[in-house]
Amino acid sequence: MKIDILTLFPEMFKGVFEESIIKRAINNGKVEINLINFRDYTTDPHNKVDDTPYGGGAGMVLTCQPIFDCVKSIRTEKSKVILLTPDGIQYKQRMAYDLAEEEHLILICGHYEGFDERIRSLCDMEISIGDYVLTGGEIPSMVLVDSIVRLIPGVINERSHIEDSFKDNYLLDYPSYTKPRVYEGMEVPEILLSGDHKKIDEYRYQESLKRTRERRPDLLDKK
Ligand code: ADE
Repeated sequence: MKIDILTLFPEMFKGVFEESIIKRAINNGKVEINLINFRDYTTDPHNKVDDTPYGGGAGMVLTCQPIFDCVKSIRTEKSKVILLTPDGIQYKQRMAYDLAEEEHLILICGHYEGFDERIRSLCDMEISIGDYVLTGGEIPSMVLVDSIVRLIPGVINERSHIEDSFKDNYLLDYPSYTKPRVYEGMEVPEILLSGDHKKIDEYRYQESLKRTRERRPDLLDKK
């Protein structure tokens, strides 16, 4: 899979993509991630990428030209162009599974006060990561990349995401424990030490159900 990220702040991605699972996925050729500064595409003599809004108002608005030219030069028939914006559709695990099947994602990070409305016409999809406003689409892009890359076959142990919270079954994860058996008086549930895998699976399922009922009953309503 190839992911092109259009941003004015490519440096922001460094720590995130240069550590742990994403780094390994890049090094193993499971994903290619390109950070593209769309300022490089501006035809403005002063390298501007934004301007004042028509009709007046506060702040600056990203202009069409650099983003249009950049997207047009990298998109192919197989590309899916996604705009990160708080007014997009809310991101869900189900969408991560769908996007992990794509060959080429182009993520556009908005910034400053906004972007020219016509930029939306370039996009196949608009995504919000939640009902809050961030300073730009960079952190949302990182969220998408992280959640998608871990689902690419061979990136992490399959079992880890087969058991994920939020897959199709809308159940939260069951509780996990590791050594020691007793820590500050808190004991590991006896059943996990029994070696009876059928019972353990049933226990875990019941715990998932209980946790979902207590914390996210809305997820069970969807089922
Ligand atoms: N840009 C600013 N806030 C955002 C959000 N919540 N989701 C996606 N993009 C954004």
